[in-house]
Amino acid sequence: MLTQDADALLPVYATFPLRAVAGHGSWLVDDAGQEWLDAYGGHAVATCGHSHPDVVRAIAEQAATLLFYSTAVPHANRERLAAELVRRAPEPLARVFFCNSGAEANENQLMLARRKTGRQGVVSLRGGWHGRTAATLACTDGAKYEAGARRAGVPLSRKVPLNDITALDGAIDDTIAAVLIEPVQGFNGARTCTPEFLQAARDLCDARGAKLLFDEVQCGTGRTGRFTAAELFGVVPDALSMAKGLAAGLPIGAVLCRESLVDDIQLGDLGSTFGGGPVPCAAALANLEVLDREGLLENTRTVGGTLACRCAGLDAVRAVHGRGFLLGLELDRPAGEVQRALFARRILTGTSTDPHTLRLLPPLSFSAEEADLLFAALQEVLA
Ligand SMILES: Cc1ncc(COP(=O)(O)O)c(C=O)c1O
Repeated sequence: MLTQDADALLPVYATFPLRAVAGHGSWLVDDAGQEWLDAYGGHAVATCGHSHPDVVRAIAEQAATLLFYSTAVPHANRERLAAELVRRAPEPLARVFFCNSGAEANENQLMLARRKTGRQGVVSLRGGWHGRTAATLACTDGAKYEAGARRAGVPLSRKVPLNDITALDGAIDDTIAAVLIEPVQGFNGARTCTPEFLQAARDLCDARGAKLLFDEVQCGTGRTGRFTAAELFGVVPDALSMAKGLAAGLPIGAVLCRESLVDDIQLGDLGSTFGGGPVPCAAALANLEVLDREGLLENTRTVGGTLACRCAGLDAVRAVHGRGFLLGLELDRPAGEVQRALFARRILTGTSTDPHTLRLLPPLSFSAEEADLLFAALQEVLA
C-alpha cells in the first residue's frame, strides 16, 4: 500500500531535501516560496538558466505546431540543429546523429567505432563515467558499474589511469575499436586530461587503427567555456557525444562524427523513435541562440575562471580541478559536509566520486554577483 505518491518511485539519486516548484536563471523556488542558488545547474542541464523564456517559448510554439514526428518525416528543426552543431564543432566533425540521452549517445558512438573497425575492445580511463546501458557501464570506472556490465555479459573496457601515456600506449592493440575519454571527468570531480595526453591518444589511435571518442555529455555544450572540450584542448576525436545541457532541459543526445567514421553507413544502421524530435530540437536551437546572444561561453570563461582562482586561494582548498563552470574543489575535509553546510544556506552544489571533492556546475549564465554569493558562502563554511 502506498502512503505517499513518491513511494511508487524506485530510488535513483540521493535527493536534496527540497521540493522545487519553479526556476529562473540560477535560482530554484521551493514550495514555501524560498529561493535557492543552483550551483548544481539542474544536474548540468540548465545551460542558459532555468526556464529561459526563449527556450520555453520555442518549446511551446513547436509543441502547438507539430508535437512530434520521427525521422521517418524530415523536419527543419532537426536539420537546422545538425547544421548548427557542425558549424560550432571543430572540423572535420561534420555528421550528426540524434538520440535521447548521454548513455544512448555513447552507446551509439561505441557501436559506430566497432562497426567501422570490426574490433570489439575499448580502452577507457580510471575515473571515467559514461552511462548506465550495458555497453557504457562496461566502460565506466567503479566496481558496481563493472559488476552490472559483467551481469549483462558485456566485456569490460581496459581502464588506464588519467594522463598516463605509457599505460595508454600499452593498452591499445589490434583488438581495440575505440578509446573513450571524458576530457574533463565530470562525476570524478572535474579531473582533467592534459592536452598532451589527448594528443597522444589521437596519435596512438591513428597509428593502431582505433577510433578516438570523446564523452562530452557533461563537459560539452559550452561548460568548459568552449563549445566542445575538443576545441578547448585542440584535439579532434573521431566522434563525440553531447547530451545534458544541449536542449537546456529537454531530453536529447547527439553524436557528432567525422565522415570517415560513417562513410559506409546504411539506412537502418542507426535509429531512434524519439531522437531528433521537433520539440527538443527547437529547445536546443533556442538554447544555442541564447548562448551566442548573451555571450554565455565568454561568461563561463571569465566568471568561472575568477571563481576558480578565488577558491584556489582558500586554505581549505587543496586543488581546483576543471575548467569554466565544471569545477572540482578538492578539500581538506569531506565534501558531503560542505555540501550540507551550503545547503543550509540555500545553495545547491554537487559531490563527486572523490569524497573530498565538491563539484560546482552552475548554469553558464551564472553572474559575477551570483559567483560572489557562492564564494562568500564557501568562505564562511570552510573558515
Ligand atoms: C560524462 C557522462 N557521460 C554519460 C552520462 C550519462 O548520461 P544520461 O544520464 O543522459 O544517460 C553522464 C551522466 O551523468 C555523464 O556525466
